[in-house]
Amino acid sequence: MITTLKDRAFQSVFSNLFVYNILWEDSEVDAAFLGLDETSAVLAISAAGCGVAGLVAHNPASVDAVDINRHHLALAALKATAAMRLRSYDEFYALFGLGVHTHPDAVLGRLVDGLPPWIAVFWARRSHLFRSSLYQCGLTARMLSAFRRLTGVDADWMRSLVRKSTADRMRDIDDVFATAIRKPHIAAALRSPAQLLSLGINFTQRDRLLAENGGCDFSSLILAHLRAVAGTNLETNWFAWYAIAGTFNHDRSDAAPPFVRAGNHERSIRATTRLSFRHASILDRLAEAPASTWSHYMLCDAVDWMPEPVQRRLFAEIHRTSRDGGTMLYRSVEDGSIVERLGLQKQFRLKQPDSDEASRLDRTRQYRRVNFYEVVQ
Ligand SMILES: C[S@@+](CC[C@H](N)C(=O)[O-])C[C@H]1O[C@@H](n2cnc3c(N)ncnc32)[C@H](O)[C@@H]1O
Repeated sequence: MITTLKDRAFQSVFSNLFVYNILWEDSEVDAAFLGLDETSAVLAISAAGCGVAGLVAHNPASVDAVDINRHHLALAALKATAAMRLRSYDEFYALFGLGVHTHPDAVLGRLVDGLPPWIAVFWARRSHLFRSSLYQCGLTARMLSAFRRLTGVDADWMRSLVRKSTADRMRDIDDVFATAIRKPHIAAALRSPAQLLSLGINFTQRDRLLAENGGCDFSSLILAHLRAVAGTNLETNWFAWYAIAGTFNHDRSDAAPPFVRAGNHERSIRATTRLSFRHASILDRLAEAPASTWSHYMLCDAVDWMPEPVQRRLFAEIHRTSRDGGTMLYRSVEDGSIVERLGLQKQFRLKQPDSDEASRLDRTRQYRRVNFYEVVQ
């Protein structure tokens, strides 16, 4: 009951803040398992939009994006529209590879044409973000920048880490971060509600996360997370570069979020996907749709944020609005299946090998599970 009240407060603060400027989910992994084609109709929680923008390279018939956070949805709309409309790859890379453009007003003015009027107003007021860098804006970026200042890590440190063995990387991570994050004032900051906001973890999800990790404290959890990231391909892990260096690895063409890469940009420019953006809860968007509307549902890890009765309502609405054989994707900080806990295995069949492989591959290392379900009518 108290957690539910705290989560309501969390959601009302979170939904009004610019928290993320990138999606903290491995959209390259999603693309490999979603099975999109030209008949696909996707309903997606946008978050910061790297995933939604990446979908258009696969030319689905439609992508309907929703989010309760208008900052995230407006950014997702800009990324996806730019992917389809901005012909100059240099200009596109400037905006979303570097996050910097010398004349953002003109290009953003062109891109918002045809988007919902509130999104046009949103970007007319914020085009200046691209003068300094999009990737320095938002709560998570500010938290990470403070973290870099405190620990002294930067792009050079990241480059040196990339060249080392996993064991040596872990030793370096322990040397630099273990003492810093256990200092009482930093440990207290890491436990604070402000930190939960910047990580996009509500109280329910935090409790699920700590329980899943044997009830350890938040500092230990973050250290374990950093050590897990050290085991990934650090040359191309754009989440690690963004966090440690404050920028992507521009020495490589495959180290930015997939939607930013040249091959996907070429495909996106040719796509005929119909895009829509609604500032709403996914439950409200589902409630107004008829049966057989969508073939794919992308829920980020929002299901982890929900109490059980809301999860039940969400899945019932997905089942009602899905085409037969539709695909539902969500991430979770728990190993246990939410669908199974709710007794819904007959309506949603886990694609076990794909989900196991996706969970293993996701380079954020933030989730225990990346689950793909087939919707059975
Ligand atoms: C659940 S959060 C967590 C972080 C996420 N893994 C990411 O990388 O952004 C992702 C997004 O879900 C949105 N969200 C949460 N609950 C939602 C709901 N019921 N309907 C629509 N969007 C929701 C948040 O506003 C946020 O932009």
